Amino acid sequence: MIKDSLKNVAVFGQGFVGLPLALSFAMRGSNVYGVDVVKVLVEEINEGITHHTEQFEGKTITQILKEQLKEKRYKATTNAKEALEVCNNIVVTVGIPIRDSKYDFSDLEECVVTIAKNLKKGDLVLIRSTVIPGTTEEKLLPILERESGLKAGEDFYLAYSSERIAEGKAFDEFAYMPTIVAGINEESTKRAKELLEVVCKTDVIVASNIKVVETSKVFENVQRDVNIAMVQEFARFTESLGIDIYEVIKIANTHKRVNLLIPGPGVGGYCIPNAYHYLAPKAEELNVDLSLLKLAREKNRNLPNVMVNMLESMLLKENKTLENAKIGILGIAMKDYSNDDRISPPIEIINILKKRGAIVSAYDSAVPTAYDFKVDNIEQALKGKDAIMILAKQESYDDLNEKYIGMIEKGTVILDTRNIFEGKEDKLKEYGIKLMKI
Ligand SMILES: NC(=O)c1ccc[n+]([C@@H]2O[C@H](COP(=O)([O-])OP(=O)(O)OC[C@H]3O[C@@H](n4cnc5c(N)ncnc54)[C@H](O)[C@@H]3O)[C@@H](O)[C@H]2O)c1
Repeated sequence: MIKDSLKNVAVFGQGFVGLPLALSFAMRGSNVYGVDVVKVLVEEINEGITHHTEQFEGKTITQILKEQLKEKRYKATTNAKEALEVCNNIVVTVGIPIRDSKYDFSDLEECVVTIAKNLKKGDLVLIRSTVIPGTTEEKLLPILERESGLKAGEDFYLAYSSERIAEGKAFDEFAYMPTIVAGINEESTKRAKELLEVVCKTDVIVASNIKVVETSKVFENVQRDVNIAMVQEFARFTESLGIDIYEVIKIANTHKRVNLLIPGPGVGGYCIPNAYHYLAPKAEELNVDLSLLKLAREKNRNLPNVMVNMLESMLLKENKTLENAKIGILGIAMKDYSNDDRISPPIEIINILKKRGAIVSAYDSAVPTAYDFKVDNIEQALKGKDAIMILAKQESYDDLNEKYIGMIEKGTVILDTRNIFEGKEDKLKEYGIKLMKI
């Protein structure tokens, strides 16, 4: 049973984080309003439609959504006022997009202004967006006080809890990943911890202050960015040396204190590519040198070009050029088994290929976005091509068995960035297909 004071929850932002988070509260018995500014998204959600690929305990997110709508424990709305009249627990998952390496604070600011205008005495505002360290206390708190006329820590409570989930594992990680929280005062921390414990079934760790939580979240993402940049250089090294990077990583990771990531076609999504840009403005203000982190980001941003150049070299060896080459692509999502194509390296690769005159046919069974280069099935991406690139895995082509290999023409070159052809190298050779793995 949830305490009455924790029962009514408004979750602002119904995207990749907000929708599964709102449903996680609803599944535990809370009454939840999911607030978003995009009318069509809200309408779709209320009809039980979502394109997300999340699942939990054998149910898809669509099933969970339909159940919670039916039970009337969850409702999406564009009407923030309606939600805030009822809810005293307000969770914010509206992000700070990075555009041209600069952060855009406007969505989060607008969201917090709306909340502040409807804030009631006793409300808790819990920020879960990833932010530039300092944002909650230096930017959001003054907006909340100014627009509401209420005093933070006395009339209303304010806390920050980093969102640490990975898309595809959201429900599970909301529940079983340790959650970190800090508030502007003791009561804010206490209220936020209690609310988080409705969903989080493992440790809710209290940090000494909000900046620690904001900063640790950004560091968590930046360390992955830097590790990825490092492993890309390792991959270039092993390619030249003529050994398999995946085997090297497997061997190195048997060391108890080593955890190398596997290389890929780039770094995508909302979190990792943005992370450096959340640190940089504060570092500039504090006059701190982040040149190593900056270089890693630049290297990773250039990976789509590196991938295209690698493919071009493979084609040149077959006396072909990129111009007019027929390129088949499997995977346009920003990572394996995802429907998210925001900041997606495969999309960037496709745009570069098209600019250089290649004819691209790309297949992805999970990404719903319409593109002129998209084809309807695996066969159309494999048959009659000069080159094939494997850029993100999806379940529908997890097993590219002999039936599919048989569709690929002799002489086709394959750049496999996801190691999907592991163990099938000899079979490809038999069919006269040249494979390069990164
Ligand atoms: N996607 C992830 O895997 C992930 C993981 C951890 C943390 N995060 C962080 O969580 C936050 C949200 O990420 P996301 O991937 O869910 O983003 P998203 O773009 O999928 O969702 C954000 C939603 O907020 C809505 N929105 C914009 N302005 C609004 C307003 N004024 N009021 C209400 N809604 C508004 C947008 O329409 C959108 O639906 C970001 O800060 C991100 O960095 C994301």
